[in-house]
Amino acid sequence: MNILVVGGGGREHAIVAAIERSRQDPSIYAVMSKKNPGIAALCEDFLLEKETNVEKVVEYAVSKNIELVVVGPEAPLSVGLADALEAEGISVASPKQKVAQLEFDKAWARNFMRKNNIAGCPIFDVFTDKDAMDAFIDELGNVAIKPAGLTGGKGVKVMGDQLPNLKAAKKYAASLLDMGSVVVEENLVGEEFTLQAFVDGKNLAFMPTVQDHKRAFENDLGPNTGGMGSYNAAGEILPFLTAEDVESSKQIMNDTIKALYKETGQEYKGTLYGQFMITKDGPKVIEFNARFGDPEAMNVLPLLESDYVDVLAAMASGTLDKIDVKFSSKATVCKYAVPAGYPDDPTKDREVTVGDIGDAILFYSSVYEKDGKVYTTGSRAVAVVGVADSIEEAEEIAQNALENISGDLHYRSDIGKSFLIQRRIDHMNKIRGQ
Ligand SMILES: Nc1ncnc2c1ncn2[C@@H]1O[C@H](COP(=O)(O)OP(=O)(O)O)[C@@H](O)[C@H]1O
Ligand SMILES: [Mg+2]
Repeated sequence: MNILVVGGGGREHAIVAAIERSRQDPSIYAVMSKKNPGIAALCEDFLLEKETNVEKVVEYAVSKNIELVVVGPEAPLSVGLADALEAEGISVASPKQKVAQLEFDKAWARNFMRKNNIAGCPIFDVFTDKDAMDAFIDELGNVAIKPAGLTGGKGVKVMGDQLPNLKAAKKYAASLLDMGSVVVEENLVGEEFTLQAFVDGKNLAFMPTVQDHKRAFENDLGPNTGGMGSYNAAGEILPFLTAEDVESSKQIMNDTIKALYKETGQEYKGTLYGQFMITKDGPKVIEFNARFGDPEAMNVLPLLESDYVDVLAAMASGTLDKIDVKFSSKATVCKYAVPAGYPDDPTKDREVTVGDIGDAILFYSSVYEKDGKVYTTGSRAVAVVGVADSIEEAEEIAQNALENISGDLHYRSDIGKSFLIQRRIDHMNKIRGQ
């Protein structure tokens, strides 16, 4: 089977590695904007091209007799890559434009949730007018401000974080009106977590819950990033969640998939990423993404015991209920090494060398290979994943590996450490009034 993976980051390296483990011995192809050495090493052939160049990607897929495609990042989904590939008779295990809207139009997504009575929707409204928006901001008193469109994780600002007060919130919200509609919602208090599922249009197969760390520096300080690292516990439930929290979140995702079909007449096929805040009132939806998270893909895909190619084919053909999707009950800790100065003023084009990383799994992200050497680009560079029976052991594996990767890099040594996890548990206990 010829399979094409679109995208060249750490998430896509994890996707390619999982496909490569398949018993079906598939031939793997890739389209990526820069040569990711990890992906290139596992591919039959690859095309260096912008992933949003729909015409070029389709042309490449046709020329290589591709039978199945996985699209890693959101940008190509927002310009209809899945639709264009399917029009050529190629199976795609990623969502079409109409249903991927759930990610790339936050205003649409919130209105859709409200209209369909999806649980966990925060109090919100969508605005194109400053006066009405200011009044709503005052009414809520504590808000998150979101531009409706894709911003690569840089558009949302929250009071108490990036926005010191109501005046700053109004000013920021007004500045976004030029780009389109603005979503204003209540500021949710709790702990964030990720629940991802494979979806075939009707059936969902859930993955273990994961927690990402967005802040650049130790102790959750500094600016937001694409994600500095993430962990999961052995089994599917994070230490600060209850089984009921996870069940309610699954219900929300099941209801969302049903409602999406009702609303658009189109089936959602592919990975669905649910980003939740667990609050005193249970899980609330921060947003949905129409693809794996990066780093979260690197936690869960190494644990997938079922054949990923079977899962991909089942998503595309609507037969996920016919296969048993299993994950091994292990903990993982994923940590990113990023360029010095990342995210605000990162160094670039610095060599990265990988020494003895022991039992850790390595995924290359935003790096490029030239003359056999690997260089940084300014974005997250390489991730290492420890897999073990406990989070502590997994953390040690990841940490030891990072210490043997050299370059002009930094990382968060606290991710996955017991004191930080205990802080999450204490935080939730306090919120739940325990
Ligand atoms: N209603 C909210 N209350 C509190 N924090 C929020 C809220 N919405 C978003 N956030 C914070 O902002 C981050 C980014 O928001 P999100 O909606 O996920 O947009 P994106 O990932 O596209 O930037 C979230 O990870 C979360 O930390
Ligand atoms: Mg998000």
